[in-house]
Amino acid sequence: MDTKQITCSYKETIRGAMQCIESNSKKVIFCIDEEGVLVGILTDGDIRRLLLNGYGMNESIENHINRNCIYAFQNESPEEILKKFNSTVTIIPILDYRHHVVDYAEYDEGMHISLAQPQLNGNEYQYLMDAFLSTWISSSGKYVTKFEESFASYCGMKYGVATSNGTAALHLALLALDIGEGDEVIVPNLTFAATINAVLYTGATPVIVDIEEESWCISPEEIEYALTDKTKAIIPVHIYGQPCDMEKICDIAQKHNLYIIEDCAEAHGACFDGKKVGSFGDISCFSFFGNKVITTGEGGMCLTNNSELNEKMRKYRDHGMSKEKRYYHEVVGYNYRMTNLQAAIGTAQIERIDSILSWRKEVEDNYRTSLSWVEGIQLQKNDMEKREKITWLVSILIQPEKREKVMECLKKHDIDVRAFFYPLDTMDIYSKYARKECSVSHKIAKMGINLPTTYNIDEAVIDKIRECLCMIE
Ligand SMILES: Cc1ncc(COP(=O)(O)O)c(C=O)c1O
Repeated sequence: MDTKQITCSYKETIRGAMQCIESNSKKVIFCIDEEGVLVGILTDGDIRRLLLNGYGMNESIENHINRNCIYAFQNESPEEILKKFNSTVTIIPILDYRHHVVDYAEYDEGMHISLAQPQLNGNEYQYLMDAFLSTWISSSGKYVTKFEESFASYCGMKYGVATSNGTAALHLALLALDIGEGDEVIVPNLTFAATINAVLYTGATPVIVDIEEESWCISPEEIEYALTDKTKAIIPVHIYGQPCDMEKICDIAQKHNLYIIEDCAEAHGACFDGKKVGSFGDISCFSFFGNKVITTGEGGMCLTNNSELNEKMRKYRDHGMSKEKRYYHEVVGYNYRMTNLQAAIGTAQIERIDSILSWRKEVEDNYRTSLSWVEGIQLQKNDMEKREKITWLVSILIQPEKREKVMECLKKHDIDVRAFFYPLDTMDIYSKYARKECSVSHKIAKMGINLPTTYNIDEAVIDKIRECLCMIE
């Protein structure tokens, strides 16, 4: 729309302003002075109130303009502008440096709200272009090493091995630990299928165990119950940003001489007892899929402090090729390498992980404030002893009979939500790997909803979500 249609003189009459609003159908007019400088805003609501207060149609709007209106400048980022919207401010003038109206931004009420969305407004584009222009677009190039080093150092670990995705990272970790046929690996019932699939790739037998009711993470008691003389490793999954009880799990592993492979795909930056997740296991695995805390599009990484495991993972990642003798293959390996292009994005993302985690927490805090009084829902625990969760996807529990209706209501408002993962043992292909009833995970999985967790979740969106949660009897 031409900006002329959305601006009028600050000296216009009520009639003139009404005509402008009528013709632009935006329910608002931006009032400008003779030089074109923004003076303020007048809405159709303001005009209605003036008429109700007895003002005539020929009254000048000059003294009735809202001069403390919200505006944005041309050079502000979309994220900064989005933050200015709220339930009453849905249209914002965009100004140039002279304060002339050059455009406007409108919050579309029907705007689609995604469950997750990467935030790529740091150095991502610059580094990606740098990698692109260097022509090192495959897995050689400076960004792969840079990303490996910076991510490992962020987690307090010595070595990082970047991979094509998080599932490949889990597989690589199991291969490096020589886990295979005849071995058993303990996994939680509530996780994404990649955790158990990686075990199955190796020919080992996964053993599914139940979760803790409070944390939704693997239960140390159930791990102990599932141990046999074939057990070789445990894969604790820090689910939905919540750390597992790593003290108890490490004790069990030490006592029974077991490996720990941490699955940190959903918990970058979370801590247990002041230590980052990913620093407890023999190897820890991360995913950088587009919906994760930080992303490389697709991507993953294994971390370890063990130089031998580091070398072994590098070999398996690169077709099993000898480091010293190129094209001589020592083991049957895989192509699990990350590209320099992906790593360029990752390098920019890790630079900003603290600020990404802090806006995520802010989003969760806003949900907590708004939803705390909604009856019948339970937010994910954030006050468990020794556990410092991070916000991946804000998660709540609600009675199963209400859950489908709430999800339907949110869908109608074009708000993406997700039910919790199906417990592994409820799927035909995995059910045989649970040796015992997993009643806690069944209960939690039926109640869980992941809510949209993106930087544009403002009060208006949370209000809509709350309405859906309250409306359902
Ligand atoms: C718990 C868990 N483990 C593993 C993965 C696998 O990661 P990716 O999708 O990068 O292969 C995911 C991610 O989707 C996950 O959520």
